[in-house]
Amino acid sequence: MTETQEATLKEKQDYGQLIAPEEGVYAVMPNAAEALDCYLSIARAIAGPTDYELVLENFANRLRALIAHDHLDIVLLHPTGTQICYEARMHTSWSHTQNPATPTEESPIRDVLRGDLPYILTDDAWTDPRFHFEGADSEPLFQANLHSRIVVPLRVQGELIGSLAISSHKKSFYNEELVVLAQGAADLVSAYLFALERGKEAKDSAIAEIEATGRERSLRIGALQLTEGMERERQRLGMDLHDQTLADLARIRRRMSGIEGGSPEASKELADIQEELDHCLEDVRGIVEDMKPGVLQMFGFSEAVDAHLQRCLRNTRRPMNMHVQDLTDGKMDHLQDTVRTAMYRIVQEAVNNALKHANCSRINVRIAQQGGNMSVTIEDDGTGIQDMDLHSLSGIGNIKTRADLISASVLFDRLNAPKGTRVLITVPMSSGTEVRDAD
Ligand SMILES: Nc1ncnc2c1ncn2[C@@H]1O[C@H](COP(=O)(O)OP(=O)(O)OP(=O)(O)O)[C@@H](O)[C@H]1O
Ligand SMILES: [Mg+2]
Repeated sequence: MTETQEATLKEKQDYGQLIAPEEGVYAVMPNAAEALDCYLSIARAIAGPTDYELVLENFANRLRALIAHDHLDIVLLHPTGTQICYEARMHTSWSHTQNPATPTEESPIRDVLRGDLPYILTDDAWTDPRFHFEGADSEPLFQANLHSRIVVPLRVQGELIGSLAISSHKKSFYNEELVVLAQGAADLVSAYLFALERGKEAKDSAIAEIEATGRERSLRIGALQLTEGMERERQRLGMDLHDQTLADLARIRRRMSGIEGGSPEASKELADIQEELDHCLEDVRGIVEDMKPGVLQMFGFSEAVDAHLQRCLRNTRRPMNMHVQDLTDGKMDHLQDTVRTAMYRIVQEAVNNALKHANCSRINVRIAQQGGNMSVTIEDDGTGIQDMDLHSLSGIGNIKTRADLISASVLFDRLNAPKGTRVLITVPMSSGTEVRDAD
């Protein structure tokens, strides 16, 4: 011990002298029949309850008939180099209620917990150097006035799992024979305590898992409701564009076609502007349709995908074969509206990507059902998607996010013979019902 440690120890001992221990009194040694009787009563008392505190209180009460004590603690080791301490009779800062897990290295009984000593029997823990070392958490020995101590290991199938410590306010109270009895009691309860602790851990982690799943579910529901809101806003904008901007542009177009006369140059200029305006009108109509999937609402998923393909076809200069095939007789329309819209947006982006990047001559969309899941496949005969493309945070990122929100899975496949890309989206038919439940 260093000088400062000795000084602190002296100070604590002086403070402790205020509660002077009785000396020269020894714990009564039970005979063999009494010991057996006590073991049996311990076994009966701890076998019933599953509440840790109660088991420990029962154990301490019954053990008292065998070994008199003022404080009892059970330490259980964690694989992380920490431990948890349960106390009976008196509660100190060692208690799990104050410190859920403390480092074993700081424990005053670490010699037993590390397996360096088979047990500790001390006449006075206050002065026994085994309890006092740099960083030792020995304060409770003084606070709870613990002098005589027996510390024995708890083992399960030979494996050290913790310790049982029995302490008295009296000095020189215990002896080697009581250590043997204490070890017997420890062997009796160790397996039970171990099972109880594992059960508690399993219960705690099950609760944590349920909480985490609940949190994830709430987040997903929140995000889905947000996208629902965005989708509604998008459709409102689409309607505004349709009712106002598109109507204004159409009116201007009509007024222009009414203009007559003027020089041939002016007429030519006017015709060019009219043509540009027609393109412009067509573009805005496309945007409006994209924003406000009216066909989806009115005619259903397969028709809406077909309308999107037709629109793309009109804007594509090269010859293109596009096809939608519904093998489910419209089952996509049985999905929740949010889920169906998300699926439609995913298909839109996959089709747009095929047109934009694949240099393909064919795009097929196939709607199918597999058990409780609906699937949509978008396949092209183009150059094929690359692995690194799958990290894109742009359209592909949106596809993944939308899929996550509706609990769908997306698979991107690069095809070889014939070449191309296949995007497969699978969604449970029950997806989205939880959002309804949460409303
Ligand atoms: N069907 C496809 N065939 C070949 N390459 C593809 C196909 N789909 C996507 N890609 C590749 O994946 C990349 C990422 O696509 P993503 O949709 O994320 O972005 P983008 O289409 O380039 O941009 P945005 O979607 O924002 O307009 C594309 O740039 C393209 O190289
Ligand atoms: Mg894209």
